Amino acid sequence: MERQEAWQQPVSRRAFLAGTGGFLAGAALGSRLLGAVGLAAPAQPDVPAWPWTYVPLDPEVVRRKGYDGFMEGGCCYGVAWAILSELQEKVGHPFTGVPADMFRYGAGGAAGWGTLCGALNGAAAMINLVTPQSDCTPLVNELFGWYCDTALPTEKSNGFGPANVPSVAGSPLCHISLSRWAEAEGTKVTERKQRCAKLTGDVAARAVELLNAWHAGQFVPAYVPAESVGECMTCHGPDGLADTHGKMDCVQCHEPH
Ligand code: HEC
Ligand code: HEC
Repeated sequence: MERQEAWQQPVSRRAFLAGTGGFLAGAALGSRLLGAVGLAAPAQPDVPAWPWTYVPLDPEVVRRKGYDGFMEGGCCYGVAWAILSELQEKVGHPFTGVPADMFRYGAGGAAGWGTLCGALNGAAAMINLVTPQSDCTPLVNELFGWYCDTALPTEKSNGFGPANVPSVAGSPLCHISLSRWAEAEGTKVTERKQRCAKLTGDVAARAVELLNAWHAGQFVPAYVPAESVGECMTCHGPDGLADTHGKMDCVQCHEPH
């Protein structure tokens, strides 16, 4: 017979009453008693409705924090912590209730899978925490587009450590971004620490620049997808064969035909 864990074992009525149920009944009775003698049960602060209120942040502070945060917990954590910790300082509750540690999974394109760049993953989560969906999607789209087209690390972050050769990722995928950088720098992807830390800072700063513009009512989407996307999608998109979807540059992986 398999060994049963404590939580799998049948709960007797007595144990149940003494345990959870007893606690709940006791809590209800207890709070009434506390009320009767004029004492309030310790209040749980309310979690406000999403999206939470954003306040403008300093992109340069966040850029440096992103770099430092990478060293602590990787790219996804680095961006999320950079933005979150600033909101925790400037706003406090409810941001203080979110542990930045939940973003550690995103390192290396999510658990090392080389998929979505963790810096983008963390930034998108933070953007969506403070923006309604209708605003989040164009903001994230803009951030991803900027990431694909911009030579990273920027001059601003390149000074945080030994200089790296900037490279254009052309893709939001960790695998492609990293490979293109390693090729540009003439090194191995295992040497990525400085480059990815700086890129983490740059992504955090860019996310904050976009959020600040949005907050000021000045965000204007400017990203234009890779040429191939428009071309290929006329036939393969929802108005054609509808056999694929996406905004990544198609000819990175497919031959034109
Ligand atoms: C003028 C319309 C048209 C355009 C533009 C077009 N395709 Fe296609 N593509 C087709 C058709 C038709 C097929 C065959 C579909 C089938 O067999 O179901 C196809 C097939 C494919 C396939 C599948 C091949 C296979 O083995 O099933 C891929 C991948 C593909 N196209 C990618 C692209 C990419 C990438 C671009 C842009 C660089 C592109 N296509 C542009 C019409 C188009
Ligand atoms: C990161 C690489 C990558 C990118 C970028 C990419 N694709 Fe693909 N695509 C794939 C792979 C891998 C498959 C699966 C191929 C297979 O199983 O034969 C696929 C499958 C397809 C298919 C085939 C569907 C079928 O019925 O067989 C089409 C059509 C297609 N892609 C079009 C596009 C278009 C259009 C774009 C640009 C918007 C694009 N792809 C971007 C990697 C990519």
